[in-house]
Amino acid sequence: MKIRSSEITPKTTYLSRKEFMKGAAIAGGSAFLAACGVSPQNNGGNNSASGNENAVSFPVKKDEFGTETTPFESITNFNNFYEFNTDKEAVAKDARNFVSSPWQVEVGGLVNNPMILGMGDILKFEQEERIYRLRCVEGWSMVIPWNGFSLSKILNMVEPKSEAKYVRFETLYDPEQMPGQDSKWYEWPYVEGLRIDEAMNDLATIATGLYGEEFKPQSGAPVRLVVPWKYGFKSIKSIVKIELVTEMPTSLWMAAAPREYGFFANVNPDVDHPRWSQGSERRIGELSRIETLKFNGYEEQVAALYDGMDLEANY
Ligand code: MTE
Repeated sequence: MKIRSSEITPKTTYLSRKEFMKGAAIAGGSAFLAACGVSPQNNGGNNSASGNENAVSFPVKKDEFGTETTPFESITNFNNFYEFNTDKEAVAKDARNFVSSPWQVEVGGLVNNPMILGMGDILKFEQEERIYRLRCVEGWSMVIPWNGFSLSKILNMVEPKSEAKYVRFETLYDPEQMPGQDSKWYEWPYVEGLRIDEAMNDLATIATGLYGEEFKPQSGAPVRLVVPWKYGFKSIKSIVKIELVTEMPTSLWMAAAPREYGFFANVNPDVDHPRWSQGSERRIGELSRIETLKFNGYEEQVAALYDGMDLEANY
């Protein structure tokens, strides 16, 4: 689906709507619940308010299941971005001065046409609106209207060689800007990977923004990956390198906790995390839990990638 400019609320309308919502929140007390804080420790049970009374700031949209998108304010004030802070509600503030322009993404490795793409080049790909569910391994989820395009478009341009079996992605390494990278708990930079057939699936998205706006730093400015059928940690932010390789890449999370985080990380209610159930999730902004769907609901589009594979052994 293309983004039509008519679908984007003008800033003035948006601001007056915000003022209205603020007043309504004061008048209505708890009617406007904030996005809820969830930490890996409490795994989705906590309902702490984050002061997000301006929750509706963009037009309500729906995904293909008719689910309303998560408000912009919630998506951008509740983030996992360990380079800045492990506290989800502190990331937006700590990342606010992140310099994401100019930016380059190096695409290389086992390809015939290696290239360096500037953001201008990346924005030349036809940008689509893609409303996808994001399911974090911690047990919370959102519905996000991303802007971007299929990763396959970049891969087809660079022409992977036949020896290329996997795609490896890397986030910027810059501890001065990203103080979390001083932490010795993790092997920086953040790395993720996909098998090449997964990377060629149309759902694997290179995202450049959300709700029709370019990314704020906390969401992974200026360009990130979105893999909606996998747990959110596969959706690596602020990418500077895409490399075609023969060996399965070791992601930051595989290196940090191999028993807990595997390479495939397909959303699967039947395979629990060693420390919690994956059978249900809490949609940010909602109170009750909902059932988690296999492949996050994208079974029809991606199940064939895993025909004959033991999904429990290959978590
Ligand atoms: N990418 C980088 N570079 N660093 C991170 O800490 N966190 C991941 C993923 N991408 C992360 C990252 C996790 S655990 C999730 S759930 C999603 O980003 C969260 O994306 P969001 O903050 O836009 O909701």
